[in-house]
Amino acid sequence: MSLATKPVTSAPTALATRLRGLQSTARELPDTPVEIRGQIPPWLIGGSLLLNGPALWDLPHGSYEHWFDGLAMLHRVRLAPGDVGGASATYRSRYLQTDDLRESLAARKPARSAFGTADPAGLFSRLRNLRHPIVTDNGAVVMARIGSQWVAQTETPLLTSFDPDTLATTGRIEYDDDEVIHVMSAHGVTDAQGTYWNVGVEMGPKCTYKLFKIVAGSRRREVVGRWSVRQAGYLHAFAMTPTHALVWQPAMRVNAIKLALAGKGFIDNFKWNAAMGSRIDAVSLTDGSVRSWAVPAMASFHAVQAWDEPSQDGRAPATLVLDLCTTDGPEIFSALRLDRLRAGQPVGVQHRVQRYRLELGRSDAQPRTLVEGTSVELPAVHGAYWGRQQSRHAWFAGFDPDGKAPMFDRTVKLDLDGGRIAGTWQREHAVQLEPLFVERPGSTAEDDGVLLVPTLAEGDEGTVIGVIDPASMQCLATLNLPQVVPFGFHAAFKPAWMPG
Ligand SMILES: [Fe+2]
Repeated sequence: MSLATKPVTSAPTALATRLRGLQSTARELPDTPVEIRGQIPPWLIGGSLLLNGPALWDLPHGSYEHWFDGLAMLHRVRLAPGDVGGASATYRSRYLQTDDLRESLAARKPARSAFGTADPAGLFSRLRNLRHPIVTDNGAVVMARIGSQWVAQTETPLLTSFDPDTLATTGRIEYDDDEVIHVMSAHGVTDAQGTYWNVGVEMGPKCTYKLFKIVAGSRRREVVGRWSVRQAGYLHAFAMTPTHALVWQPAMRVNAIKLALAGKGFIDNFKWNAAMGSRIDAVSLTDGSVRSWAVPAMASFHAVQAWDEPSQDGRAPATLVLDLCTTDGPEIFSALRLDRLRAGQPVGVQHRVQRYRLELGRSDAQPRTLVEGTSVELPAVHGAYWGRQQSRHAWFAGFDPDGKAPMFDRTVKLDLDGGRIAGTWQREHAVQLEPLFVERPGSTAEDDGVLLVPTLAEGDEGTVIGVIDPASMQCLATLNLPQVVPFGFHAAFKPAWMPG
């Protein structure tokens, strides 16, 4: 059967039309024209919007149980010169060719454990592979680069490379080292030199965190800092300043032995431990030394930003500042289970943006909520600011304050320093996902660029990408794609000047 010509299966239930992004009906399409309405800024032309995300949740003999679990598909929207000085665009899509996809298609059911789906293998198999467990390579969460090589990844150490133009899968990254890492942040970070940074954990009687980097052209994970804890926290992302990597441990803690042997879905091995609280570790990029702060119990997927605040003499940072999207409990993990989302149940979990000021010389920190009365996630700031300096404003996918909309339903600009909502863009009766900030080349103002926002409203034939001015929050144009892109999480933009 060709995935290009026939859907693998239909969704098991009829969904409200805006929730069609949770169906397993996306096709692999060759370059297909995209309708553009409005004016595309000329500096975007020649670039490509890349999306990945889960696409195939339902197989003939079994389904995945969590939004995060669907088998990954890559999507590319390429912008090219059009008639009379305008722009044209094409869309294409391909499944990421992973071992998990091949095994699951062959088995006609999920073949490996996933975030919220149990391991189909037996206990004997898990015992046999205790030190090197079989984990998924389903890179449905984030795309990053090692130099000019693009990789797709999830929360395991397995990186799959792909061609950003054809979307062909080009292979697994085989590491040239002996480091043991069992779980890894999904958010690998590529710096201005093309070096890939990430944090992983070696599970065991002690759980050892490892901050590492891979320089362009290498396959060697150079460990910059390592530190151990008794029970690791759920790890999805980390943040960087010019001097430190900041790694937060939510109150969702895991027993490493149960993780290895219980056979549950990955997140079902984590337990909320309010008494243990949360912790933020700062790893020096210079010497690998680690400082820690105890913070109140929280859960968090994403950092908005982080920066160094200098000391009086300006020579060394006196305070590290970290803005996180947080929740007060573990409910978000089950709120995103597929059956609940497909049934249209609102997520119903309050998300805050909280600022942690980590003062050197202290061992605890109390967060401050930056904007009251909002519930936002999937943050974005200008790329020249992230990891380098403070941005006053940030952009988010927002929840309906009345709690009635099933998923994110608006794009929100927050004035973090002023404590207010600075703007909103909203399509009627739509799901609106992560706003990707694409900065205008050479720009330095924090709102100089566009937001690219995947949306799906009742009645849309396919996904509609909003091209939004981050300053005014006005919609400049839409890219009307030829099919519904299943709801994913994070996008990337490959500008015209970037090789590869
Ligand atoms: Fe994420």
